[in-house]
Amino acid sequence: MSLSKQEVVSLILGERRSNSAAQLEAEAFSPVNIALCKYWGKRDEVLNLPVTSSLSISLGQKGSRVRLSTGSGLADTIFLNDEPLPPESPFARRLSDFLDVFRPDPSVRFRVVAHNNIPTAAGLASSASGFAALVLALNQLFDWRAEKRELSLLARLGSGSACRSVFDGFVQWNAGNRPDGMDSFAEPIPAIWKELRVGLIVVSGETKSVSSRAGMKHTQETSPLYAAWPGKVAQDLNALHRAIANRDFELLGRTAESNALAMHATMMAAWPPLVYWQPESLAAMRQVHALREQRVPVYFTMDAGPNLKLLFLDKDEKSVRLAFPQMEVIAPFGSP
Ligand code: PMV
Repeated sequence: MSLSKQEVVSLILGERRSNSAAQLEAEAFSPVNIALCKYWGKRDEVLNLPVTSSLSISLGQKGSRVRLSTGSGLADTIFLNDEPLPPESPFARRLSDFLDVFRPDPSVRFRVVAHNNIPTAAGLASSASGFAALVLALNQLFDWRAEKRELSLLARLGSGSACRSVFDGFVQWNAGNRPDGMDSFAEPIPAIWKELRVGLIVVSGETKSVSSRAGMKHTQETSPLYAAWPGKVAQDLNALHRAIANRDFELLGRTAESNALAMHATMMAAWPPLVYWQPESLAAMRQVHALREQRVPVYFTMDAGPNLKLLFLDKDEKSVRLAFPQMEVIAPFGSP
């Protein structure tokens, strides 16, 4: 039997859980993160506990800013990029369900004003930066003075990958094995790699038909290849740690690309099959491979959607841009 979110929040916050709002409004920012070794599959669906550990890179100044205040009324008021979200829309429901755990009393309503400075259409996990920023704002509003590890545990309850968006730079989310998930939090990997670049290639701005949540569940339940996934992750995590420690870009890129393709292979072997790729996704992959044949070290990763994220070094930005003129380039550690 899994613990409830309420029980786990009490474990994390203890007496601070009953703090009343210490200020009228709080504001916080969290970056988007891109997994180089993916989180794909849960051991607990309520607490978002993963089957394996994962490793990501946060995208610096690109992410979500959330302003939070309390009020009253019938429902929470939620704005995303200046548009009000209808309370019955799936994302508003998810946010309100998450906020239920933190209402000082059931009549309290929240006002959430969120801005993403990365187009939501870019298929980036903006829910990760959104939930992380929301938890940071809750921490200020209720004066929990929580440690980063506690904030990571709380963010995980909103969206698994959000636990990694609490930190900058390279981040590892440890799977842990406790049923209450108290050992399943993210930690920063102390390494700065100024030359690293992430390119965003949007091949389709349409909202995906199958959420990552539903996609990973379906894959776990029906794909015969899922059994091989934890072994692949163990290998890739090892390689990524070596790549980061030695600033071995080729190892980093190769590992991230192979990890993403292996994740997509588990989905394609599910039944009914789950294929997020569009013809344009495959065309972009071919272009990346063609660049590598011309000795431009560039690699891709993909999440549960059709868009590609490229990995390269600043010295190759010009060549990569020539092939992908529409690409948005991000320097996760700032420019040198
Ligand atoms: O945190 P969720 O439920 O949005 O799942 C994220 C899953 C992937 O983006 C596909 C992989 C990852 O590790 O971010």
